[in-house]
Amino acid sequence: MTDAREPLLRYLEGRIALGEPPVILPSITRSEALEALAEGGRDVKGPPPEEEAAPAASEASAPSTPELARLAREGTAERIRELDFQELREVALACQRCALHEGRQHVVFGEGASDARLVCVGEAPGSVEDETGRPFVGRAGQLLDLMLMSVGLRRDEVYICNVLKCRPPGNRNPQPEEIAACSPFLLQQIDLIDPKVLVAFGSFAAQTLLGTRESIGRLRGRTHLYGRFPLVVTYHPAASLRNPGWKRPTWEDLQIARRVMDGDSGLRSGAPGGELSLDLP
Ligand code: URA
Repeated sequence: MTDAREPLLRYLEGRIALGEPPVILPSITRSEALEALAEGGRDVKGPPPEEEAAPAASEASAPSTPELARLAREGTAERIRELDFQELREVALACQRCALHEGRQHVVFGEGASDARLVCVGEAPGSVEDETGRPFVGRAGQLLDLMLMSVGLRRDEVYICNVLKCRPPGNRNPQPEEIAACSPFLLQQIDLIDPKVLVAFGSFAAQTLLGTRESIGRLRGRTHLYGRFPLVVTYHPAASLRNPGWKRPTWEDLQIARRVMDGDSGLRSGAPGGELSLDLP
């Protein structure tokens, strides 16, 4: 088996996850193919990436300096936008800047490669994320993993975070004052990671980064800009779980993001409203 096996395996798994029709390989039998994929699965996947343990709630409330502790209580957006990654994480983990801190089990800061070329931005932690302190680990997260895989990306190669770092009670929609309090953490994460492309999953992420009220249906399928960062907007995986017809457009959007990440800027000026766009093939 050559190295081509791993991307092939990811591609085939992604197709299955997205409900694509089977691939027919006329030159090998089904059992030969299954055997090859099983070998590939064992050989190339290796041990699961080490999971970043979520800090216990008590540990989370202890920033390393009095100044960081002060910022966690009453820091301004401007001050949060000056922090380095470690400081940002410490302040976020102890944050009391909105009422959501009262009901949380864990702050879900975000996880992944600190030099990731692609950053996924979701809405807010759900119950499993609140319990574990990790983003996108419930059912929507499993679908996200498969969708990333379908464009040849492993979860540990990208960075995954949310607009809100604390779970809204009962998974209700984020409130404007919560977004205002929490979004400086997201914006600073993006600046520090400095990715090649952002993917906003769902309307809260898209609207927060683009400052628009447009629907996902109108924003998806092309590349926008958040500051200097190309941004692709797509459906939230939780929405695709409810409406499987959205998996395919999400896959297409992720292919756009993948191309931008790989260096095809995908940006073409002159679209209406000064927006930059990339047409689907
Ligand atoms: N939905 C989100 O938007 N983010 C998560 O982390 C989990 C579910």
